[in-house]
Amino acid sequence: MEQQKRYGHFDDQHREYVITDPQTPWPWINYLGNEDFFSLISNTAGGYSFYKDAKFRRITRYRYNNVPMDNGGRYFYVKDGDTVWNPGWKPSKTPLDFYECRHGMSYTRITGRKNGVEASVLFFVPLKKWAEVQKLTLSNQSNETKNLKLFSFEEWCLWNAATDMENFQRNFSTGEVEIEGSTIYHKTEYRERRNHYAFYHVNTPIQGFDTDRETFVGLYNEFANPDAVMEGKPRNSHAHGWSPIASHYIEVTLAPGESKDFVFLLGYIENEQDQKFAAPQVINKDKAQALIAELNTTEKVDKAFAELNAYWDALLNIYKVKTGNDKLDRMVNIWNQYQCMVTFNFSRSASFFESGVGRGMGFRDSNQDLVGFVHQIPPRARQRIIDIASTQFPDGGCYHQYQPLTKRGNNDIGGGFNDDPCWLIFGTVAYIKETGDFSILDEMVPFDNQPGSEVTLFEHLKISMDHVIKNLGPHMLPLIGRADWNDCLNLNCFSWDPNESFQTTENVSEGTKAESLMIAGLFVVTGKDYVALCKKIGKDAEAERMQQAVDSMIEAVKKHGWDGEWYLRAYDFYGRKIGSNECEEAKIFIESQGWCTMAEIGADEGMVAKSLDSCKKYLECEHGMVLNNPAFTKYIYEYGEISSYPEGYKENAGIFCHNNPWVIIGECIAGRGNDAWSHYAKILPSYVEEKYQTLHKVEPYVNCQMVAGKDAYKPGEGKNSWLTGTAAWMWYTVSEFILGIKPDYDGIRIDPCLPETATDYTVQRKFREADYEITIHPNGAQKGVKSITLDGQPVAGTVIPYSAGKHTVEVTM
Ligand code: BGC
Ligand code: NOJ
Repeated sequence: MEQQKRYGHFDDQHREYVITDPQTPWPWINYLGNEDFFSLISNTAGGYSFYKDAKFRRITRYRYNNVPMDNGGRYFYVKDGDTVWNPGWKPSKTPLDFYECRHGMSYTRITGRKNGVEASVLFFVPLKKWAEVQKLTLSNQSNETKNLKLFSFEEWCLWNAATDMENFQRNFSTGEVEIEGSTIYHKTEYRERRNHYAFYHVNTPIQGFDTDRETFVGLYNEFANPDAVMEGKPRNSHAHGWSPIASHYIEVTLAPGESKDFVFLLGYIENEQDQKFAAPQVINKDKAQALIAELNTTEKVDKAFAELNAYWDALLNIYKVKTGNDKLDRMVNIWNQYQCMVTFNFSRSASFFESGVGRGMGFRDSNQDLVGFVHQIPPRARQRIIDIASTQFPDGGCYHQYQPLTKRGNNDIGGGFNDDPCWLIFGTVAYIKETGDFSILDEMVPFDNQPGSEVTLFEHLKISMDHVIKNLGPHMLPLIGRADWNDCLNLNCFSWDPNESFQTTENVSEGTKAESLMIAGLFVVTGKDYVALCKKIGKDAEAERMQQAVDSMIEAVKKHGWDGEWYLRAYDFYGRKIGSNECEEAKIFIESQGWCTMAEIGADEGMVAKSLDSCKKYLECEHGMVLNNPAFTKYIYEYGEISSYPEGYKENAGIFCHNNPWVIIGECIAGRGNDAWSHYAKILPSYVEEKYQTLHKVEPYVNCQMVAGKDAYKPGEGKNSWLTGTAAWMWYTVSEFILGIKPDYDGIRIDPCLPETATDYTVQRKFREADYEITIHPNGAQKGVKSITLDGQPVAGTVIPYSAGKHTVEVTM
């Protein structure tokens, strides 16, 4: 293989990925903020900030899919004599003498050096604060005194990120700002119904400013060479309409060896209706000033940064593995868990592939994300479960998405995705197993957020199961509805009109008969969980009732869902097989193999082993397992969006990383550790880091949603990084099924499934009020625990009974 160019490397000690070349194959981003105030930041300081909801409370403006790429961000311009440069290289793109971007846990540090001056900016959102801190340190590393001109730059978004991009006839007349001292306030629409404003502050007197974009940049210039910066002269412009911005101008003199800190603060404030104004037309700035006062010195900011680091120390101390294999340890201990927090926070709303305006929080997505996050901050997971369940309908169906700001169902995509209800059981069971908190089942939760409609959460789980049972098709398999997990397998859509959405168009004329084997497997897996939960809380009759439904589903799959070498994928509207050897294309699909093997359907008859073998034979390639094989080469009216994608991309035979773990877990349950590991390592970022640098394109420290499959033009190319269910599933797979540390109602179940080559390893696991140090001795076994001791005493079975305190566990396989 040819030597790949490298753009960076891991620094495990600092939990950072260090980017050493600004011209990465695609912007490599990070996320700042953990609750309420969030920012996206690329390795060249591009990106934007928002409060809670990337659509409705966008604070700064960003331009997606622009030329040049990654346009808009927080830019610092240093003018040193005739040279203008930026520490993050963009937007001036002046070649730097040194460049480095360190993406860490909820912070990013970008450092640039030019002609003996270093500018290093630390970006982060302090815990519980509605503000992004940008601590800029300017140092003179030369032998002469430097007289520098420093310009900051942010561009305001007019709050609603969707209308900001389209309603120019209005937008160009609404922009309003105030300037007071070193603070620029953005108050567009504050005069009317908004009770929020934003501000951009610096903790030093300024020698000028700009708030009108055209005045600062010059109408025919670019961010690369704004007029004010190139001339070294701010215009002190006051925006009225058009595009308001915020730019501070500071003159800085640095003796040789001297350095100075500047704390910039981008903040968001909400005022009560009767507290909005200090005087007519003048906003009440009390809260802004209070926030500034908390973060206006280097010491205060350093302290807030230390708190953020301590917060991450604590989060990452909950599950820590030591295998001696750095590539595995860094993903388990750092990056996979970090990505889980990010997906929990954002669902699929805001990334460099999700514009933040199109999609809110997904019902199924959020339930899955929760499984990767629940061990980190259980109370937030609890609240999330209640929020999600509150968007359900009385018949168990639900909105497919909801808006984070209002927590209300968002009707853009409607409902009718028939896998959705099952995921509520998946999420809730994971929460109870982690916490032992059964009281969540008694919480009163409304339907469609309607006050007065509340029933217990347990009742929501029950109607979720019933929703599947009440929607069975001619083969007694679950009706698919709009789609199941695969949003693009639209078997009841039937569209020839390019102006119709695959997601919402529905052919209902003759009733909908399409059935899903993926939901069948999901129903069996979550049904078994539901039965166990019912038994646990003494609802034996309900357990019995659901066990029968699960048994019937298993029979239906064996009878109508088996194709000979693998599980079928679905029956279409006309009752024809999908994902069968009889089909011309797409003879086998991954989703039903994953779910039916996890459900162990037909294990005794050899179905599970055959299905897993078929995945290896037909789906696996160098970069992972593809979704279906062979790819569709033409559009099929009866199948919908899946066949709209060119071969090898997205749901049409892409490596949709999200579902690889399903098969890997199937392998683990079947005890095939070698196969499980080889599938896992193929999509584990640290294992493919070198090819990730160029072929793969997107960030080498997190999973992406999709890698182009073997039928694609460029197999191995990654897309849609960061916000993907892959994060939670990779975590669930490695933490519980490969390393085998599984929270259970009464304790921790130990059941690893490893490659033969695995050596002894130790997991540090905080669990409820306990702290376990678990050492596993695999002895070359792929599966099967022979004996366990807890604090030196033998334990019967594979569950370590829970008790608070510190414990040592030894496991021999
Ligand atoms: C994508 C899916 C996605 C869906 C959401 C489709 O175009 O391929 O991955 O879930 O849109 O609306
Ligand atoms: C992305 C969506 O967010 C997720 O809900 C869906 O399951 C996958 N695409 C597959 O279509």
